[in-house]
Amino acid sequence: MVNPVRTKTGIPGLDEILFGGIPENNLVVISGDPGSGKTCLCIEYLYNGVVKYNEPGLYISLEESADEIISFAELFDWDVRTLIEKKMLAIITVELYDFDKLKTTIEDEVSRLGAKRLVIDPGVVFRLYFERELDARKRILSLGRMLKRIGCTAIITNEISLDKATSLFGLEEYVADGVLLLYHTKLEDRFIRSIGILKMRGTKISEKLHPIRITNTGIKVLSKQELFEDVK
Ligand SMILES: Nc1ncnc2c1ncn2[C@@H]1O[C@H](COP(=O)(O)OP(=O)(O)OP(=O)(O)O)[C@@H](O)[C@H]1O
Ligand SMILES: [Mg+2]
Repeated sequence: MVNPVRTKTGIPGLDEILFGGIPENNLVVISGDPGSGKTCLCIEYLYNGVVKYNEPGLYISLEESADEIISFAELFDWDVRTLIEKKMLAIITVELYDFDKLKTTIEDEVSRLGAKRLVIDPGVVFRLYFERELDARKRILSLGRMLKRIGCTAIITNEISLDKATSLFGLEEYVADGVLLLYHTKLEDRFIRSIGILKMRGTKISEKLHPIRITNTGIKVLSKQELFEDVK
């Protein structure tokens, strides 16, 4: 396999389990239960993109305001305000009443910033927007095609619930080039966080579930450890 150009996440341990990073231009879905770290991972991905790799990024929020996202980032000492002032980052809240407008907003902002990284969070609300499955399928496919065309490495988040493992694989994952799963696994009286890569087109991946930690500096993937390794 030819080694593709990679978009490094810069998140400790994550690029290791992706054998170097996300293949450039891939569309990746992050599925996880509430509080599993989806938003944190997305912000860290964009923040690192600017400060470590000099790549502009765009964050499309379908739920929280830009101020809420900025405050969340500041908990980890990621000074996103300065990056916004330097036009290396934009955080835009889009109300999803007009799907076509969402697409043009993304295209316009990506070209204004020269963005190489894009996040749509929480992407799962697409589904709620369409009454009919067929409509959802068509529109999500067309969004996926557009995202491939604009030359960004994109992450869309997807909420799953702990007790509904069967609804795990929504439509978005089939459209996507890659799927990362963030888990909270109950072990006796506590939850353990972990990450698994379900698929990633164009690269070899780790097939294990790796524990993750969320601390004041962000997410850390324990790439050398496996979940339950020391609790078997
Ligand atoms: N400094 C920290 N140390 C440990 N845990 C933290 C720290 N800061 C935040 N957290 C936790 O990390 C998690 C991050 O949540 P985040 O909002 O990224 O998850 P999410 O998957 O986007 O959730 P939602 O489904 O609500 O959108 C939260 O559970 C939060 O309590
Ligand atoms: Mg979130």
